[in-house]
Amino acid sequence: MNLEYLSGFGNEFASEALPGALPVGQNSPQKAPYGLYTELFSGTAFTMVRSEARRTWLYRIQPSANHPAFVKLERQLAGGPLGAVTPNRLRWNPLELPSEPTDFIEGLVGMVANCASEKPAGISIYHYRANRSMERVFFNADGELLIVPEQGRLRIATELGVLEVEPLEIVVLPRGLKFRVELLDAQARGYVAENHGAPLRLPDLGPIGSNGLANPRDFLSPVAHYEDLKQPTTLVQKFLGELWACELDHSPLNVVAWHGNNVPYKYDLRRFNTIGTVSFDHPDPSIFTVLTSPTSVHGLANLDFVIFPPRWMVAENTFRPPWFHRNLMNEYMGLIQGVYDAKADGFLPGGASLHSCMSAHGPDGETCTKAINVELAPHKIDNTMAFMFETSQVLRPTQFALECPQLQPAYDACWASLPATFNPNRR
Ligand SMILES: [Fe+2]
Repeated sequence: MNLEYLSGFGNEFASEALPGALPVGQNSPQKAPYGLYTELFSGTAFTMVRSEARRTWLYRIQPSANHPAFVKLERQLAGGPLGAVTPNRLRWNPLELPSEPTDFIEGLVGMVANCASEKPAGISIYHYRANRSMERVFFNADGELLIVPEQGRLRIATELGVLEVEPLEIVVLPRGLKFRVELLDAQARGYVAENHGAPLRLPDLGPIGSNGLANPRDFLSPVAHYEDLKQPTTLVQKFLGELWACELDHSPLNVVAWHGNNVPYKYDLRRFNTIGTVSFDHPDPSIFTVLTSPTSVHGLANLDFVIFPPRWMVAENTFRPPWFHRNLMNEYMGLIQGVYDAKADGFLPGGASLHSCMSAHGPDGETCTKAINVELAPHKIDNTMAFMFETSQVLRPTQFALECPQLQPAYDACWASLPATFNPNRR
C-alpha cells in the first residue's frame, strides 16, 4: 500500500476514502452519505478557546458506541506501581528484546511517571519492545501518546488512516484514538511519552521569527482509510492506568471520511532545522524543542520533547558540551542512534537516564577533560540522535525501573574522574 499524507500542523484537514463521503455544509446531516454514522471525536473540552480546541468529525460504518461492556484484563501493563522516591541520578542499559511472542501492548513497560493517570496534567514514560503485530485494537483514555522508535519500522493503522514510521521519525496519537501497531521488521523497540496534559503543539519561536526548528509542513497526517471487516476483534483500552477489553464483531477502524484537527501525525526528526550559535557559548537546550505541552504557567512545560540532532559546532572560546547544570525541570533522556555528545560511554541506543529536579549533572569526566583541552575548530557532530522528555514535575521510577538488572549501579562514577584543575597561583 502506497501511503498518502496530509501536510501541516494543527490544520483543519478533510479526507474521504470514498468520493462524496464527507457531508457538505453541515457536520451531522439526518442521513450521512453511504449510510454512514456521524460521530464527534473531541480531544479538548467543547468550551476551550478556538485556538486550543481539537476535535474531528468521523463518518463511520458503525458508531463507537456499539460495543459490549469492557472487562478488566488479567494481564496489566508491565512496570508495576511507582517505586520509592529517590533524588539520585539514574541510568539504564537498553531493555532486552522479548523472546516470547509480544505485541506492542504486552511489550510496554512503565519506567517513570509524575502523577496518577486521572490527573489532567503530568506525563508517564514507557519503553516498548515487540516481536509481533497487534491483532487487537487499542486506545488510551489516559492521554496522548508520543512514540519514539529506536529499532524497527512500525505500521500504525488508526481510525483516521495509516501511518508508517521508522527510527528517526516520531508519531503522536491523540488521546482516545483507536489504533493497531503492526511490525514491518522482525522486532521493534522504542520509547513512549504519555501526555496527560494539554496536547502537544509547536513551540513559539519568539525572536527566531517565523521559520526554524520543526516546520509545520513537515508534520504528516494520514488520509482516510477504513476496514469493512465483520470479524471478531478485541478492543483494549487503558483507563486510569488499567487495561480493559471488550469483544467486537467488526473492525473499529471503520471511519470512511473525516474532517477536523484532532488527528494523529508523524514527523521526521532529520527535517528539524537546528539552530545554534555562530559566535560564542551555546543557547539553552530549549533551542532544540520539537513539540511542547504547556501548563497554565506561561513558559513552564508539562512536557517538552527535545532532540540533540547532528549539527555543526563552531563556537569560539567555548566549553562546547552541555554545561554542568542543576535544573528546576526533570529530564528523562533516551538515545535513538550514535553517541550523545555529553557522554563518552554508558549511554546506549535504547537506554535511558533520569536527572530529577536540582540533581547536578553534565558531561562525564572523559568528555569534560577532552572539551577543555581540544583545539577549537568547526566540528560536526554526526550520526547521532539523542532526545529528552522534559517535565516540570518530579518523575518517580516504577518498581520495575528501580529493580531491573538494566539499572546501572555506578552511574555517579562517570563524574568521579573530573580532574582537580584549580590553581590559585595561575590565572
Ligand atoms: Fe540536563
